[in-house]
Amino acid sequence: MEKSVGNMQEIRNREQVEMFLNGKDSIEKFRRTLMQYECAMLEIKTKLDVLNTELSLQKSRNPFETIKCRIKSPESIFGKMEKNNIPMTVEAMEKYLNDIAGIRVICSFPDDIYMLADCLLAQDDITLVARKDYIKKPKPNGYRSLHLIVEVPIFLTDEKKPMRVEVQFRTIAMDFWASLEHKMKYKKHIDKAESISNELFYCAELIAQLDGRMQQIREKIEGAPEL
Ligand code: GTP
Ligand code: MG
Repeated sequence: MEKSVGNMQEIRNREQVEMFLNGKDSIEKFRRTLMQYECAMLEIKTKLDVLNTELSLQKSRNPFETIKCRIKSPESIFGKMEKNNIPMTVEAMEKYLNDIAGIRVICSFPDDIYMLADCLLAQDDITLVARKDYIKKPKPNGYRSLHLIVEVPIFLTDEKKPMRVEVQFRTIAMDFWASLEHKMKYKKHIDKAESISNELFYCAELIAQLDGRMQQIREKIEGAPEL
């Protein structure tokens, strides 16, 4: 039973992918490219896990709490390409989309975000493609996170290929805010949408203050002498 549901999904995906590629590229090429993005995502995740393990020994706490990885679904890939008038080819997809492989790193404290980002960028096989610091310069709606687009080489059986990965860093509180704010985007008609946006903006400011104060408290605790 389960198997047949899986197969149906497979068939639907195949038809969808073939329809979008429209004979210009093979589905195998598309799949191979997504596999390469997955490998790049694993490379970056491992680098962050290694940093977390090393730094947790130094600092007696984890620089990040959670790490989430995802590969963009074919549906979202084609939707974004259609919306941005990008030609429906695997080549154009690789050239114009930066967020096919995405990693979200959720930290307790804002200073850990910058420390982790700096450590990652200092590695000699990592190239920074773009950096958007929505913590230092929040979006008008109050959104805060540090976004990096990085390039990392992957080593396959017959080639070495640089691949791009989007890494988003945010605090637990910023993540909580972004999840709720994200839900608004899926609702077309919300009563009092403006007042909700204002409230969300106000909460984002409170969260920034709270994150700052929690960090100060942590510094005081860490600065206190041991028993
Ligand atoms: P796309 O939204 O992916 O097309 O990227 P962009 O070129 O506008 O880049 P940006 O770095 O601004 O945003 C990338 C991602 O960050 C988004 O896909 C979301 O996951 C997240 N993000 C950006 N802005 C917001 C926001 O206002 N609210 C929430 N909840 N998430 C956001
Ligand atoms: Mg995106």
